[in-house]
Amino acid sequence: MPLRRRLLFLISLVLIVCLIGGGVLTYWHGVRKIDLEMSSAINVGETAMEDAIAALAASNDGTHTIGRIVVSFNGDRHLRAKLLAPDGTIARSSSVRLPTDPAPTWLYDLLVSKPQVVSFDLPGEYKSLGRLSIETDPLNEVSEVWEDMKLKLIIVSAFCSLVLALVYVTVGRALRPLENLSTAIGRVAGGDFQAQVSETGPQELAVIYKQFNEMAEQLARVEHQNLRLHEQLSTVQEEERAEIARDLHDEIGPFLFAVDVDAQTIPPLLMRGDNEDVRERANAIRQSVGHMQTHLRAILSRLRPATLVDLGLSHAVDQLIAFWKARRPGIVFEMDITEVSFGAALDALAFRIFQEGTSNAVRHGAPNRIVLSARRTENNRLRISVVDNGTGLKATASRGFGLTGMRERVTEKGGSLVITEASGKSGVVLVAELPITPSNPILAHANDDTRAGAA
Ligand SMILES: Nc1ncnc2c1ncn2[C@@H]1O[C@H](COP(=O)(O)OP(=O)(O)OP(=O)(O)O)[C@@H](O)[C@H]1O
Ligand SMILES: [Mg+2]
Repeated sequence: MPLRRRLLFLISLVLIVCLIGGGVLTYWHGVRKIDLEMSSAINVGETAMEDAIAALAASNDGTHTIGRIVVSFNGDRHLRAKLLAPDGTIARSSSVRLPTDPAPTWLYDLLVSKPQVVSFDLPGEYKSLGRLSIETDPLNEVSEVWEDMKLKLIIVSAFCSLVLALVYVTVGRALRPLENLSTAIGRVAGGDFQAQVSETGPQELAVIYKQFNEMAEQLARVEHQNLRLHEQLSTVQEEERAEIARDLHDEIGPFLFAVDVDAQTIPPLLMRGDNEDVRERANAIRQSVGHMQTHLRAILSRLRPATLVDLGLSHAVDQLIAFWKARRPGIVFEMDITEVSFGAALDALAFRIFQEGTSNAVRHGAPNRIVLSARRTENNRLRISVVDNGTGLKATASRGFGLTGMRERVTEKGGSLVITEASGKSGVVLVAELPITPSNPILAHANDDTRAGAA
């Protein structure tokens, strides 16, 4: 059942219980009021009747006077006087004043029990006329209770209607943004992260709407970042492929051509029996193959850097420097790596940092000197740094993925990464510190032992 309907149902239930309680109280109060009123009316009536009967002795026309006594009760609100003949029949009776708005019979039956009756004997000579009596008739009293009840019912009904209307409107208003929220959640589930909801409404719900909006914005940001990453990845892959194609073409192609040329010259030389020249050609072919093997290894190591690191960090960094030297001969590289390896996991991470740090320096800083260093600090941490003397960080530096990815990797391993301008001179200093602990799988010492064992 919807929340609004459920609330209305519960409130109506409470109001009905209150109404029933109020009805019972009104009934009880009505019964008591009628009883009290009738008792006091009959007391007053009794005194009046006794006085009137006492005055009969002084009357010249008793029969007429008795009739007047009965008639004097005409129009009374609570009492009816009667003259009862000796045989019990009603010889005369007064009439009770009728209420302007009589109560329904069911209420009369509900409230009224037996009427109170008091009989009076007539003095000596009038005894033969019968007896006088007064009896209560609560018709007017019941009609008062009825009017009272009607008024209360109108007030209570107005109150209940007002309460229900207020609850209906308030809950409806409070819940309307929830419907919007549900629509917005549906949109987010469908991949539309631009969905937002208005942050109005009750305080508790406004907090939820605000958090939803923040979540959607965050998702939109992540999606945008993913898109950029994806685009960048494709670009990088394209560049990589183009570079490999160029390398294969420029480095391998000429040697293959040379091998082909040398191989073609061999048969005529053999025919001529020129063994010396054949040997020279064969050596030239071997040289070309040797060059091709070197280039092929360089290309393969770029495609699979992990294989590079397998031989230790310093070896991999050597290859990295060779790669850049071939492309930027103007840059002087310095390497300060105290240990051949710090363990496979740390070596791989350190190599990634060197790779991105060097690439950033070359791409953004145009330096003529880059120093790559990896050393164990006194508190058993691995300190990796890439320092260049390039143009330094620009104030408007864009946020790429290189540093972000690097920082994520380092933080994952419990380390820290700081990139700053070189103090006092131009250039950039990139420093990463990583703990050398069992959480970073292989310890430097363990590795040293392995190498010592292998030696
Ligand atoms: N050595 C450096 N010299 C000068 N500027 C640098 C250097 N390293 C980083 N920066 C600046 O920091 C920015 C962020 O670097 P980051 O590696 O995160 O991204 P990127 O190199 O621009 O792109 P990506 O690495 O995603 O291809 C760079 O765009 C550049 O402006
Ligand atoms: Mg970069």
